[in-house]
Amino acid sequence: MSLKRVTVHGQGKEEKRGEQRGPIGLDWKELKATLNPTFEWQKAVQAALDTDDSLESAIDQGRIYALRYEMCDDMARSPDLTDRDPRRKMWNFLSPIALFASKGNKYGKNELVPVAIQMDYKPDSAVYTPEDGGNWLLAKLNVQITDVGYAQIVEHLAKIHYLMEPFCVILKRTFSSQHPLHQMLKFHCREINVPNTFGVPLLVNEGDFMDLLFAYGNTGTIRLLKDSHKVATWEVTNLKEEIKKRGLDDRRLIPYFPYRDDGEEILGVIDDVVEKYVSLYYKDDKAVQEDKELEAFLNELSLNGTGENGGIGRIQKFPARIDSKEELCDIVTRIISHLSLQHTALNYALTDYAVYIPNLPTKLYNDTRVKEGEFSVYRLPNRVTSAIEAGFTGLAALRFDSLFDYGNSLEDSKAANIINNHYSYLTRVVQPKLQERNEKRKDKDDLTYPYFIPRWIPNGVQT
Ligand SMILES: [Fe+2]
Repeated sequence: MSLKRVTVHGQGKEEKRGEQRGPIGLDWKELKATLNPTFEWQKAVQAALDTDDSLESAIDQGRIYALRYEMCDDMARSPDLTDRDPRRKMWNFLSPIALFASKGNKYGKNELVPVAIQMDYKPDSAVYTPEDGGNWLLAKLNVQITDVGYAQIVEHLAKIHYLMEPFCVILKRTFSSQHPLHQMLKFHCREINVPNTFGVPLLVNEGDFMDLLFAYGNTGTIRLLKDSHKVATWEVTNLKEEIKKRGLDDRRLIPYFPYRDDGEEILGVIDDVVEKYVSLYYKDDKAVQEDKELEAFLNELSLNGTGENGGIGRIQKFPARIDSKEELCDIVTRIISHLSLQHTALNYALTDYAVYIPNLPTKLYNDTRVKEGEFSVYRLPNRVTSAIEAGFTGLAALRFDSLFDYGNSLEDSKAANIINNHYSYLTRVVQPKLQERNEKRKDKDDLTYPYFIPRWIPNGVQT
């Protein structure tokens, strides 16, 4: 969720975006101000791309990408609650910058290659490249720590769990249980209150998971959660638009991006289900305008809602009223895709990537038994910390159902048909297609992406 194309003045070359839609990617001028001026960035990019082109020209060609975690700048350090060995000193939680380039590979396609990693966002921070041995491995682990420490609090907890809970609560407050939208959305809202009510305190409270696992501790967790409120708006539920904003929609420059490509397959099915389902109950725009329950739902959710309960859901940039079927379809599609697809991407990959601690630790150490610049297992968290991390991230494997498997639970047989037909399409057509894609990815030495295989996508937020 953090990778972005580096652009000049936020303008991608081929897309001239209107002011209203905001800039694309990461602004080079802003990024440059944080980079260590003593490191030869242009030389590193030329080496990675095997070219004489200037860095500016590579940016102009859309070939430069970066990870930059602005929200993680200057995180305070908390005491190390899981390791009191006097020989070991925990690293601070840093805000590294990783630079990548899109380079033609042996298959004649572009692929992202690493250029360099700057250990923190301050210009005096050390910079390492793939030539740097132990320090390069440490630099990569440093990025992994920040990526997971950022993504799980901001992208997962704030932008999905917390953002979507009001939709599910207000669904029950404003719609009759017989209302068609309630009949459908209740399956996508199932269980979100369980992780939010019982799970989140175990995550964020003092002395609990984040406090134990990350150097930013409980204070840092709360800071990230507070800061993420302003970015957790309705806009983030638009998967395709978010990818465009990050400058990652160009399939020529970024051909390997399963989240985008498999995501669009599933999104197409969700779009189609919603269009047919909504059309079953809403003949025209007038039917949307006359639905008082829908009107109350939108009004309570939107920050701009009016009247007694208007705005209690505090959803920023969400419309307080709509007038057309098209807008209704867009809203329902985005509620479902965010609860199912987006949550799946953020939640379930954790089990594969974080249960194996050497791939994704949550802390790193200086240890008197290891020389400066060298890597050893003593750099990794101790057994207690590792067991806590593995136990915690393993919880992210729970699933109770699969996307659109609930057709037979609907009372209206016409609605049941729509859902069942699409469920069957997902199982019989989309699933083998995505499995084949993964086989091809494996053949090309790319990582597979099992997360959007339909039967592995639950209807909603269940863990
Ligand atoms: Fe989750």
